[in-house]
Amino acid sequence: MDEKQLVSTVKYVASARPAFQLSEISAYLDKPATADQMYAALLPHLDALGLEVTKTGGDYQVRRSVPAPAYPLNASEEERIGSYLEDRSLPPDLEEAIAGYIAKKTGKDRDDPVVLGRLRQAIVAQKDDYWKPTGKRSLRYTKGYSVLGYLAYHFPVYFMQTRHLLAELARDGLLKREMTVLDLGSGPGVVPLAIADFWQNLDSAKAEVWSVERSKEHIEAFGYLAQHSAVSGSRVILHPPLEADIADTENPLLPHRADLIVFSNVLNELAGLPVEKRAEIVMGYARRLAPNGTILIVEPAEEVTSTGLRVLSLALKKRGLSIYAPCTFVWGTNCTPDRCWSFTSAPPIRPTRVMETLATCNESFRYVNTDIKYSYVMLRKDGKARQSCQISRDMRAIRLSKVHLNTGKKITVIAAKMSGDLGDDKTHVFRICDGSAEKPVFAVLPRFHAGPANEAVLSAGYGDLLVFQNILVRYNPEHDAFNLFITRDSNVTLLK
Ligand SMILES: C[S@@+](CC[C@H](N)C(=O)[O-])C[C@H]1O[C@@H](n2cnc3c(N)ncnc32)[C@H](O)[C@@H]1O
Repeated sequence: MDEKQLVSTVKYVASARPAFQLSEISAYLDKPATADQMYAALLPHLDALGLEVTKTGGDYQVRRSVPAPAYPLNASEEERIGSYLEDRSLPPDLEEAIAGYIAKKTGKDRDDPVVLGRLRQAIVAQKDDYWKPTGKRSLRYTKGYSVLGYLAYHFPVYFMQTRHLLAELARDGLLKREMTVLDLGSGPGVVPLAIADFWQNLDSAKAEVWSVERSKEHIEAFGYLAQHSAVSGSRVILHPPLEADIADTENPLLPHRADLIVFSNVLNELAGLPVEKRAEIVMGYARRLAPNGTILIVEPAEEVTSTGLRVLSLALKKRGLSIYAPCTFVWGTNCTPDRCWSFTSAPPIRPTRVMETLATCNESFRYVNTDIKYSYVMLRKDGKARQSCQISRDMRAIRLSKVHLNTGKKITVIAAKMSGDLGDDKTHVFRICDGSAEKPVFAVLPRFHAGPANEAVLSAGYGDLLVFQNILVRYNPEHDAFNLFITRDSNVTLLK
């Protein structure tokens, strides 16, 4: 089949008719083709043509794509989400469903010492495995206890973390009135269940969630939790997960268009795959992304995984996606992500009853997981970014890539705050970035210099852009990094 001829024929027919069946096109081609063949060839061109395709029996309907309208939050939804995020406990019915599932699978009482011992072993084994080099990990979740351990230890934190990420999308107007979500590497349904839970804050938004997972044990757990928690009956449809490998990006059983595509704590598990391969997988799914849709990738905050996410993000940027958040490319340059360890955090969750029971032993700290710390990136196809800035010449701002030429001098820089406080009881320290630096740069504020003129560095949120005026550049040879000292004579302001 001549792909060029197919594309130009489809373009011509679409300009004359609002909708048609793809099989009709075959008659105009020099070499006839099946609907499936034409669909596969057309898929990469749909965005440029402004068309979308829906499978209808053995054929495909082609029509002009109309972007789904955004879902702006009203004041009461904003308020509800605010108090929802303050609640640090897992929804009680979900917590109960997790405990119930563990009891069902083991056939034993929830406080049975043998079950608790095996759960502890599974948790420790999972943590040990995580710290092995990626190629040497054996995370497959094929054994019952590995999934039960995941439910007891990881699920609560990842579920609550997803609440914060969904709130960010909602507050930024990136949710839609009716949206299709695709969750890759769903595990026991952390993201789909969190979506169903979050949508209860919204007055009328609807969502359909599709997911892919390769572990049967996880799929079974997902089914149980979806059935036994209050999420059913909301305006969210959770499709049963597809048992498949996420590396198969062409899976025909998945929706052709998605408004939100999520990879939560999964890409780091594609052991041994180089960054190019991981980027190809994400780009494979990006073909399904609606022109105004978002890809969300989340990884644990630990240094190697977190830095790996930044390297992957740049690879995706170079392949044509734009980084919406948390990074801001102040000078329009590409960054040097190799040493970019940047993550955000949220208040810790309350330990679940299962965690508390597991902790009734000598090394209780090993079984209680309450800290929310994560690295994430949101990517788009439409070039939209959360923040952008115009820098006037009279600001005399210097790129972070040029700070090495200014050691010992006082300068002005515009950069985003890219960490929580990394300092100690004497000094506040924040990682900052403008997208140009080749080495890590930190804003350092000795506590005795803190005052109203520089307070913005403390109160700014993760990713917020700041103007730092009159700050002193110092090189830190121990860490091969630059420290920009904020003193009481410096000015730090939030760039709106
Ligand atoms: C750490 S869990 C994350 C689960 C969930 N997304 C979360 O954030 O809690 C990673 C999941 O990805 C699944 N997974 C890893 N590689 C996969 C692959 N190639 N295809 C499908 N699923 C995969 C694993 O089975 C596991 O359930």
